[in-house]
Amino acid sequence: MTDRLPGFNTLAIHAGAAPDAATGARATPIYQTTSFVFDDVDHAASLFGLQAFGNIYTRITNPTNAVLEERIAALEGGTAALAVASGHAAEFLTMHALMQPGDEFVASNKLYGGSINQFNHSYKNFGWSVAWADNDDPASFEAAITPRTKAIFCESIANPGGVITDIAALSRIAKKHNIPLVVDNTMATPYLIRPFEHGADIIVHSATKFLGGHGNSIGGLIVDGGSFQWAGDARYPMMSQPRPEYSGMVLAETFGNFGFAIACRVLGLRDLGPALSPFNAFLILTGIETLPLRMQRHSDNALTVARHLSTHPAVSWVSYPGLESDRYHELARRYTPNGCGAVFTFGLKGGYDAGVKLVSSLQLFSHLANIGDTRSLIIHPASTTHRQLTDAQKTAAGAGPDVVRLSIGLEDPADLIEDLDAALVG
Ligand SMILES: Cc1ncc(COP(=O)(O)O)c(C=O)c1O
Repeated sequence: MTDRLPGFNTLAIHAGAAPDAATGARATPIYQTTSFVFDDVDHAASLFGLQAFGNIYTRITNPTNAVLEERIAALEGGTAALAVASGHAAEFLTMHALMQPGDEFVASNKLYGGSINQFNHSYKNFGWSVAWADNDDPASFEAAITPRTKAIFCESIANPGGVITDIAALSRIAKKHNIPLVVDNTMATPYLIRPFEHGADIIVHSATKFLGGHGNSIGGLIVDGGSFQWAGDARYPMMSQPRPEYSGMVLAETFGNFGFAIACRVLGLRDLGPALSPFNAFLILTGIETLPLRMQRHSDNALTVARHLSTHPAVSWVSYPGLESDRYHELARRYTPNGCGAVFTFGLKGGYDAGVKLVSSLQLFSHLANIGDTRSLIIHPASTTHRQLTDAQKTAAGAGPDVVRLSIGLEDPADLIEDLDAALVG
């Protein structure tokens, strides 16, 4: 091999992995163990003191999870990564490393609904508050920044779909105010968008979706871009101040450009505990091996179905940036030239009743609250995830009575279109 870096397809299969040193096993073994035997007392002391890398206990590190961590760091172009139990755990541990009680962060108003809840309600218990900004208006993020703002948070492609974020514009604002930009890259995956190339500092993922890709395991990932200078910055004490738990070690000084990932692991994961099961890490790793193939097919199929629906007499609108007429099409060409992913929304002329009838009549599409499966999925938010809101609140959240969300799978698009057409008739 030359010095040239391997391509994305190669990294998706090989990054972080090697034949098992003990057995020669070619697939990454599932190290289904809670704990690891120390070589001797000195070895144990050096592991506990962070003087040596190695395994103590699976809540903190595990060799199967480590392969997943190296692989996502390679695919995103980061310095290090951390595998955790869910996408929400990834968001939470990220904020735990950045925020102190009384601190604030600015978040895009176009986010997965669970993140909006987490930020609005549960985070209050930690004394963290969120200021919402308009995803389509980068200036609104800058206007929301105060001296206590510790991060900007957005999604690259926003769930429930159709929204492309101008990451570079948000990064310019973040850099101007010297705060990190955190990007949730769940919907795009590094196959479609690599946020570090547009100025992001930290990436989080729900690996539950397209990275795992088969609807069989919950998981989350945090990737450190290595770009933010934590050392000497008293606003970020987790990274920049001496840690009493580690004999006064300053993580940003000892670990340099992966100090953030270390802080998430040895302070967040160790103390708060949302560890990923090695079995789930194995399933997510297996999923990632086919990520490029799957994301391309998801995107191609979604464009075919979106085009079909945009001319359907029962449909009033389709929001998918791959469509030339879409308001985000120009941003999509800039940020995600290979395709716009699997997920999009559309409106039914028949409103709420038509939405309920559609989800009940489909044969191939599964009616459930998830995205990023090989199978095509559908949800009518007004009668499910958003049913407790008033009609006005539903519409403001992009979940009006007529709205349907699809996550297009890997089936033959002709079969998906036939299923939709049959269910939309009569
Ligand atoms: C964009 C996005 N981020 C985060 C999450 C939360 O992930 P998890 O369900 O793995 O906790 C989701 C879940 O749907 C999501 O769509």
